[in-house]
Amino acid sequence: MTLYGFSQPTHWNGQELPRIISRLFDVPDGHRLEVARRHGAYATIGPALFDRAPYEIIHEVAESGLRGRGGAGFPTGVKWGFVPRAPGKPVYLVINADEGEPGTFKDRLCLTRDPHLLIEGMICTGYALGVRTAYIYVRGEMLPQICILNQALREAYDAGLLGERIAGSRYSLDIFVHRGAGAYICGEETGLINSLEGFKGQPRLKPPFPAVSGAFGAPTVVNNVETIMAVPYIVQHGAKAYRRWGTEKSPGSKLFSVSGDIARPGVYEVPLGMPFMEFFALAGGLVGELLGCIPGGSSAPVLTAEETRRATMDYESLSSLKSMLGSGAVTPFNTTRDPVLILQTLTRFYAHESCGQCTPCREGTGYVDRVLDALIDGHGGDGDVDLLKSLADQYEPMTTICAFGPGAAWPVQSFVSKFRPYFEAYIAKNPQRQRTRDLAGVRPGAFW
Ligand SMILES: Cc1cc2nc3c(=O)[nH]c(=O)nc-3n(C[C@H](O)[C@H](O)[C@H](O)COP(=O)(O)O)c2cc1C
Repeated sequence: MTLYGFSQPTHWNGQELPRIISRLFDVPDGHRLEVARRHGAYATIGPALFDRAPYEIIHEVAESGLRGRGGAGFPTGVKWGFVPRAPGKPVYLVINADEGEPGTFKDRLCLTRDPHLLIEGMICTGYALGVRTAYIYVRGEMLPQICILNQALREAYDAGLLGERIAGSRYSLDIFVHRGAGAYICGEETGLINSLEGFKGQPRLKPPFPAVSGAFGAPTVVNNVETIMAVPYIVQHGAKAYRRWGTEKSPGSKLFSVSGDIARPGVYEVPLGMPFMEFFALAGGLVGELLGCIPGGSSAPVLTAEETRRATMDYESLSSLKSMLGSGAVTPFNTTRDPVLILQTLTRFYAHESCGQCTPCREGTGYVDRVLDALIDGHGGDGDVDLLKSLADQYEPMTTICAFGPGAAWPVQSFVSKFRPYFEAYIAKNPQRQRTRDLAGVRPGAFW
């Protein structure tokens, strides 16, 4: 996949754009401690943090309304509040840098351009939660990012910003980088914890939730890279300043990675609540005439052009359209594209990445993929479009241990219902109008 960079102007429509996460993204060598410090890095590591009680930091983050940027949008302060006080066990912080969803490429840019902001956010979070040991779980393929991260950690240790008694305070923190093996399911927080512990990366049943019993049986907070990178700003400037951006229920800014039929693909930090059409203009404009848009990563139900035109980039607007903001990966496509082929790319991905633990997901994703392949190859029959939907309907309603099943079903359900004529057109190409490829001979779950 092409890795697009940061393409954002400082202002848009006469208004300053937020630079909470991306402040150093276009500063040359901003990933080096010396340069980062010249631009204000680690300003919180001193009285701003250590003169306050940990619960005050949790309260400030809760007040800011910051929501998790890994996909689910769960309020961060609320999640932190689930960690038991005095649990009698260590509390772990685990950063989810497994980013593997098609179209999502913001976290790898964060790690490349400003690893010190993540480290600073981890120190603030670790202090708030009483964490002594923290992990960053990074997708295995992200080798350049892992090297940059390790270099940044070395710099931070050498400067006394990590390890024993950080910056002369009574707080100590160690951070370890754990390299994954490139499985999408290890981005799911309990699959990630299993993998971190050295087990097969398969999700665990919840409850217990990780905040109560996670890594090594101890309370564990799993947060996305971008989520934690917003924390230093909130600690330094306060919840009110953070709420200057965004909407009442979706405060702050968010990184969006946009690809597809757009003139300047890349990563942008914009206030939540921005209309999608304005965002497209900011990213250089749409290429061709809009047919539809995947608004929040490959699991997010697709929007039609008309829905996209009235949608804004916040959690509430997209849930009112029965879609989601997810990881903030926006993929508009134009009328020269075939939605059936777009869906095929997604079903192939989900069939390949299902961990195989739960029958509806393991069998269903593979089955859908084979029916769709047959249809595209001219072997589809009457009823196959309904079959696709009914199969997806069976692994959608949380009949599985984790949310992979629903996330794999939503694209199928939404593409089929919103772009049905495109599917029917493939069947019309088959003169027999009944499936002429026997799927029974194909091994179920052919990809895992
Ligand atoms: C199949 C699947 C894959 C996921 N992949 C990621 C991922 O790559 N990165 C991430 O931060 N969250 C991912 N999540 C969400 C995590 O389970 C979890 O909600 C998140 O890391 C919590 O952090 P947040 O509250 O800061 O968003 C995934 C969830 C599922 C179901």
